[in-house]
Amino acid sequence: MTPKKTSLPEIFMGGMGVNISYWLIAKIVSLFGGLGIVSGVALDRILALILQDGDPGGHCRRALAHFPFQDKAKMVLDAFFIEGGASRIQSKRGIQMYSTDPSQLLQALIVCANFTFVWLAKEGHDKPIGINYLEKIQMPIIHAITGAMLAGVDVIVMGAGIPLHIPEVINCLIKGAPLTYPVTVVGEKEKKVMTFDPEKFFGSRLPLHKVPFFIPIISSYTLALVFAKLDKKLMENKSPCRVHGFVVETSTAGGHNAPPRNGGRNTKGEFVYDEKDEFDKQKLVDLGYPFWMGGSYASPEKLEFAKSQGAVGIQVGTILALCGKSGKTPEEDEKMAQEGRSGMTQELRDWIRKRAFLDQLVILTSAFSPTGFPFKVAKLNGTASDDFHYGCRKRVCKQGALRVLYKKPNGQNGYRCPAEPIEDYIRKGGKIEDTIGVRCICEGLLATAGMIDGLPIVTLGDDVSFLKRLMRDENDSYSARDVLAFLMVTEEIPCECNAS
Ligand SMILES: Cc1cc2nc3c(=O)[nH]c(=O)nc-3n(C[C@H](O)[C@H](O)[C@H](O)COP(=O)(O)O)c2cc1C
Repeated sequence: MTPKKTSLPEIFMGGMGVNISYWLIAKIVSLFGGLGIVSGVALDRILALILQDGDPGGHCRRALAHFPFQDKAKMVLDAFFIEGGASRIQSKRGIQMYSTDPSQLLQALIVCANFTFVWLAKEGHDKPIGINYLEKIQMPIIHAITGAMLAGVDVIVMGAGIPLHIPEVINCLIKGAPLTYPVTVVGEKEKKVMTFDPEKFFGSRLPLHKVPFFIPIISSYTLALVFAKLDKKLMENKSPCRVHGFVVETSTAGGHNAPPRNGGRNTKGEFVYDEKDEFDKQKLVDLGYPFWMGGSYASPEKLEFAKSQGAVGIQVGTILALCGKSGKTPEEDEKMAQEGRSGMTQELRDWIRKRAFLDQLVILTSAFSPTGFPFKVAKLNGTASDDFHYGCRKRVCKQGALRVLYKKPNGQNGYRCPAEPIEDYIRKGGKIEDTIGVRCICEGLLATAGMIDGLPIVTLGDDVSFLKRLMRDENDSYSARDVLAFLMVTEEIPCECNAS
């Protein structure tokens, strides 16, 4: 069987959280022939922080002016926008952590934020734009998808868990029915079902015109079969949303990875993979869905190889996470931004590219993530990967994006995260062994994107060999546009677009 046809491009940008795949680079990737994917992780926090910073350039307010329910956009602006940005002495308004009972403001913020960044990525062109979510971050999902769909998102890519309920959420939105999402309560069979009735919340029918493609991220054929079974049911029920295809991610990809099937760990607690973790692509081809390969595929030769194995193309992350040229004057810098650069701070990007070019970069498959999933981390002094610096940090949970539900002795649900202060976690019934080696990646990832002060944590894939083909020396740099030209082996990509 040949893979199903798809209208989507060969090259997917990895959805990279937090804010590494931000709206402008996603837009540029799409304009240059790839599928630009906005990271959907913690967009509510990002919007609130940008608004509190005075919304430089006015992009978020421009998008919010198009939000179809202006009373909710106003609610968000009134709560968070600070003209000219918060001064040092002005205290910023706190942002409620995710919960199964979010305030009206948090619900409006999540919907508006997902709308804003998809709207900005889609502004002024008709190329497809995707959004990436992590199934592990369950509590904001129904509001987040509502916002992304209100902005007309074309593709929803989702991994870090088994996102079986997403087609149902999309279908309910299209039908105008209330949404539900089952949130895991650790250690319990029964889930806590979250509900959200968008029509009641907004007071009218939602102007939705598009059913996005749903593409789960998988790393085993077994999971492909689970989704194929779900898709059969969706087809039988004449569901508007179907499983469009898969991103197949190998264990060398940046971000979170699937746990090794043999449970392998080395003496330092890092995860180790073996041949059991290899993916049989031929079986997937036989299943008949289009798929894209991710994890060390960032070269034109690897793209050809993936295609020769039956894939439509590839998903690339690390090569784009490290891209970005900067200019010496504000005008020159703005011009460079239009060529595409990631949301990682310039300081980190320049430093890491240099170290990697000089073969001095070490990537660990760490147990740092509170999710329990293996998490790729660049070992860098002065970041959260550095034992000494992390050891000096006060253990605290201020963002809470990875908190999970647990059942309290009184039968009510509580929230906990293994990266919070150990005594709090234990008091909440958590096990001490869950806290070993775990670090706060909420703070780390927001700091890597320059969104908050804190110890950054940098996730990257194992393969950085592309750097020596894109850079002349360790101080050189490259843009997202250069990446697309490199992967597609095009001589020159026409730059008829003004990307912002
Ligand atoms: C900085 C960074 C952040 C990432 N964050 C996410 C994420 O939030 N969600 C996700 O599904 N994948 C994430 N990934 C994985 C990418 O989407 C992509 O699949 C992967 O990077 C491909 O492998 P490569 O890095 O070798 O190109 C991340 C990767 C990087 C490098």
